[in-house]
Amino acid sequence: MSTTDLEAPDDTSPTAAAAANPLAQFVQGPRGAALDAYWMPFTANRQFKKNPRLFVKAQGMHYWTDEGRQVLDAVAGLWCVNAGHNRPKIVQAIQQQAAEMDYAPPFQMAHPKAFELADKVAQLTPAGLNKVFFTNSGSESVETALKIALAHARACGQGQKNLFIGRERAFHGVGFGGISVGGMVGNRKIFGPLLGGVDHLRHTHDLARNAFSRGVPQHGAELADDLERLVALHDASTIAAVIVEPVAGSTGVLLPPKGYLERLRSICDKHGILLIFDEVITGFGRLGAPFASTYFDVVPDLMTTAKGITTGCVPMGAVIVKNEIHDAFMVGAEHLIEFPHGYTYSAHPLACAAALGTLDTYAEEGLLTRAATMESTFADAVHALRDHPHVIDIRNIGLVGGIELAPRPGEPGKRAFDVFLDCWEQGVLIRTTGDTIALSPPLIIEPQHIERLVGAVSAALRRVA
Ligand SMILES: Cc1ncc(COP(=O)(O)O)c(C=O)c1O
Repeated sequence: MSTTDLEAPDDTSPTAAAAANPLAQFVQGPRGAALDAYWMPFTANRQFKKNPRLFVKAQGMHYWTDEGRQVLDAVAGLWCVNAGHNRPKIVQAIQQQAAEMDYAPPFQMAHPKAFELADKVAQLTPAGLNKVFFTNSGSESVETALKIALAHARACGQGQKNLFIGRERAFHGVGFGGISVGGMVGNRKIFGPLLGGVDHLRHTHDLARNAFSRGVPQHGAELADDLERLVALHDASTIAAVIVEPVAGSTGVLLPPKGYLERLRSICDKHGILLIFDEVITGFGRLGAPFASTYFDVVPDLMTTAKGITTGCVPMGAVIVKNEIHDAFMVGAEHLIEFPHGYTYSAHPLACAAALGTLDTYAEEGLLTRAATMESTFADAVHALRDHPHVIDIRNIGLVGGIELAPRPGEPGKRAFDVFLDCWEQGVLIRTTGDTIALSPPLIIEPQHIERLVGAVSAALRRVA
């Protein structure tokens, strides 16, 4: 891999960074007033606005703050910047597309790059998953997949199949479908009765048996049998689909026990239930293979993706479905719309250009399998934190690491958040969910970056009470 474009630009002085920052007038002015209007998503707004953390520039493995500090990105932005920041080929692709054609309506019209991209994505996915429906985010991909599953059952004359099975501790985005099949209490409890007709499998997190596993944990494949319990309760004839993340990130880096996904697949097959893998974070190389389905060699019926499809630089998502699912819709009069669903910005030209540039970059630099090459260096470094204060588990797979801390009594999540703030002060961006530190660096990471990020977490863990 050429690293020339990944090196730090030399204008890292605060003045240069501020000059490049159109927001500088706000952040350097009376912060309280200027930061007031923006209601930030999934953010402790009041805490943030007292001491804002602002990025104004990015390149390769790093961000730069409005104060000119360089920050190592240990989470690929938000699990999305898999190719690293501001890669030239991708920047150029977006710039060219913006100059050439800004927008094309995706309903009853199209543009060539949408087809080119769908074809390239289909070539990366497991055999048989060849039909690509574009969205703008992971949440939209999840809503789309759930709707395809329901409409597919109906198209097959099985309209009574309208229940979904999700899993406890799952995150499937923030749409009403996604939070319904999801299993994060904090994201559900304030939003009313949600989607009807949803039940949940038990989650697979088992510290008693699996703490400090390297790679997938050994114990827990039998938890897939929980699906048999739900089938016995609801009857297979009422269940449209099961949706799971092959590896869950947002709920604390939860890995599937060895054999679990295979067992889920075979129970779904036995009962004629569709299996949806939510690959929003595992898609596009995170585990060391193009998709988790490739990695585990378990093929779902539908896959939801987003994030890495454009390496995060333009919003985009995609649902990839088995041919026969798509084909079940292609009946009736030809002038009729087969699936009444889609978004104004589905297959947006800028997103398609960005995605094509991204896939080229992945291919040229072997990034979709690079996590496999880096996995053992990364795992060694992360597991070296085992004896640090408060650490109760460490988990890893591909370029994903989870470090779970014992919560402070009466303050769940606070200890990990303090570690996050400490790392931020040290110039390393990590992410925490509950009391788990989640690491998911860009796939271009080199050993010296791993050393730096684990060094920062180590120092923070020693400091934080
Ligand atoms: C598994 C999974 N599904 C869906 C989503 C939602 O994606 P988005 O934030 O793009 O809507 C996420 C986001 O992290 C995710 O991890």
